[in-house]
Amino acid sequence: MFDIQRRPRRLRNSQALRDLVAETRLGVDDLIAPFFVKEGATEPLPITSLPGIYQHTIDSFVKEAERLAGLGVKGFMVFGVPEEKDPVGSQGYAASGITQRAISALKDRLGDGAVVMADLCLDEFTDHGHCGILDDRGCVDNDGTLELYAQMALAQARAGVDLVAPSGMMDGQVGVIRSALDAEGFSGVGILAYSAKYASAFYGPFREAVDVTIANGGDRKGYQQDFRNAREALTEVELDIAEGADVVMVKPASSYLDIIAAVRPMVSIPIAAYQVSGEYAMVRAAEAQGWIDGQAVALEQLTAIKRAGADLILTYFTHDLAAVLG
Ligand code: PBG
Repeated sequence: MFDIQRRPRRLRNSQALRDLVAETRLGVDDLIAPFFVKEGATEPLPITSLPGIYQHTIDSFVKEAERLAGLGVKGFMVFGVPEEKDPVGSQGYAASGITQRAISALKDRLGDGAVVMADLCLDEFTDHGHCGILDDRGCVDNDGTLELYAQMALAQARAGVDLVAPSGMMDGQVGVIRSALDAEGFSGVGILAYSAKYASAFYGPFREAVDVTIANGGDRKGYQQDFRNAREALTEVELDIAEGADVVMVKPASSYLDIIAAVRPMVSIPIAAYQVSGEYAMVRAAEAQGWIDGQAVALEQLTAIKRAGADLILTYFTHDLAAVLG
């Protein structure tokens, strides 16, 4: 018989041995919990396409965040859903805007026990649903939008945010935000940049969560990345780091593990990955049919995202998995 020299199976003999030699570990510290906070809501409203996820009131948001913090979750990402939308997204940078109020409510309650982050983008606040303001031809005006992003960063910083998270994919956004923060005395506020963000059909359920419809059947392909491209993501990451990003993010996650793996050796700062709404919804939908074990699949996917090279994962599963991993 063939003389078997190496037997990798020896290291799989027991759960204890497998745990001892495991290369990748997923812990509650790795997870960031996304939250939708809806202005004017009087009770948490379920989001049909994201089972188990709600549009929160400020009070229910703080309560749920406190529960997660008690289980060891450190990161909280706020998405504000305003009552009023207009062409320039004024509620995104108003001092009394919903995101700003949610940030300060959570900071008041949890202080340094929570790392409070906020999505920094105009799409939740514009009536046309684009991530920036539009020029005369109806195209997103990159440089005009940057001025508003700077104002948003300052409004979030004044509310007490720890990390702003620009997600609009405008060129120069990280640099403009960094300068604005520094000029106003907020050099301690960090930037988690959505650096490699693809124009993705996996964002479908998110649009229900933030009440966004893009006008005239439009899309975001003019500013978000083309999913046929990988090297382009490295350019985006390089630029964001040069402009002052403290953490870079790849989004979506599971279909973009190659991008995470390519970014890993090129950066020394932390990499975050966003397991987006459609990725979550698909697991929940198959689970509801009884076709897969949703929790097992979620843990496998999240571990794969870490194995590819991510340090942090923004995922809707945080709300359920915190108790399992904590
Ligand atoms: C933009 C933003 C989006 C998501 C996060 N930030 C939507 C988009 O770019 O169209 C999607 C996240 C998800 O699908 O879970 N503010």
